[in-house]
Amino acid sequence: MNNFLEIKNLSKVYNDKGEQITIFENTNFKLESNQLVTLTGPSGSGKSTLIHILCLLDSPNNGSFFLKQSEDLFKKNENEKSTFRKNNISIVFQSFNLISDLTAIENVMLPSLYSGNDNNETETDALRLLRKMNLENRINHLPKELSGGEQQRVAIARSMINNPELILADEPTGSLDIKNAGYVFDLMKEIIDENNLVIFATHNRSLVSKSNLELTISNRTVNF
Ligand SMILES: Nc1ncnc2c1ncn2[C@@H]1O[C@H](COP(=O)(O)OP(=O)(O)OP(=O)(O)O)[C@@H](O)[C@H]1O
Ligand SMILES: [Mg+2]
Repeated sequence: MNNFLEIKNLSKVYNDKGEQITIFENTNFKLESNQLVTLTGPSGSGKSTLIHILCLLDSPNNGSFFLKQSEDLFKKNENEKSTFRKNNISIVFQSFNLISDLTAIENVMLPSLYSGNDNNETETDALRLLRKMNLENRINHLPKELSGGEQQRVAIARSMINNPELILADEPTGSLDIKNAGYVFDLMKEIIDENNLVIFATHNRSLVSKSNLELTISNRTVNF
């Protein structure tokens, strides 16, 4: 889908002990669905900042954000943002953030159960996603019984359980070795379809070369 995500006139300025640091100035971009887009740029250029803004966890100083022809998401109040995020956006971090006393499948099911969905249907969906992540033999393992790559695949399955339109990943393979990073990346590519889009911040050039599109942050804006 064309114009699946659109950012208009984004500005973001941090106030650091009285000093203004401009991260984004008049930034515009549009993205289509069905893509795994990598987000690159030097350390400190604003990748995590942009991910937090797109996740509606951080507010910009100016700008508009449309997802699948929604109204301007930046204009929503905190409650509306939180509801929209729960239903449409998910985020995967470098540290997997799994709940340690829940099994792999319970971790994957949690966001769906929080959204009030039926337990049996959720379990079926979670199993399907864990199979997609090649974890069918690990569903009843606790996080501590899984490797880093396996834990991240559980986190990715969890990020997909509510069928989000936007999946944001902030260096999700940053703590994995090269082989596992490539594997996790390839599996993420398989979960994309015309109803969603993945934005994946990374420093890893071999992953960038396998992505559909690279967005680079430089000169306080996002470049194609
Ligand atoms: N809450 C904050 N207050 C002030 N400055 C901040 C805040 N958060 C981030 N910054 C600054 O904004 C800039 C961008 O940070 P950000 O974390 O987005 O970079 P990044 O591209 O993700 O870097 P890395 O590759 O190291 O993860 C940095 O200079 C950082 O110090
Ligand atoms: Mg970062």
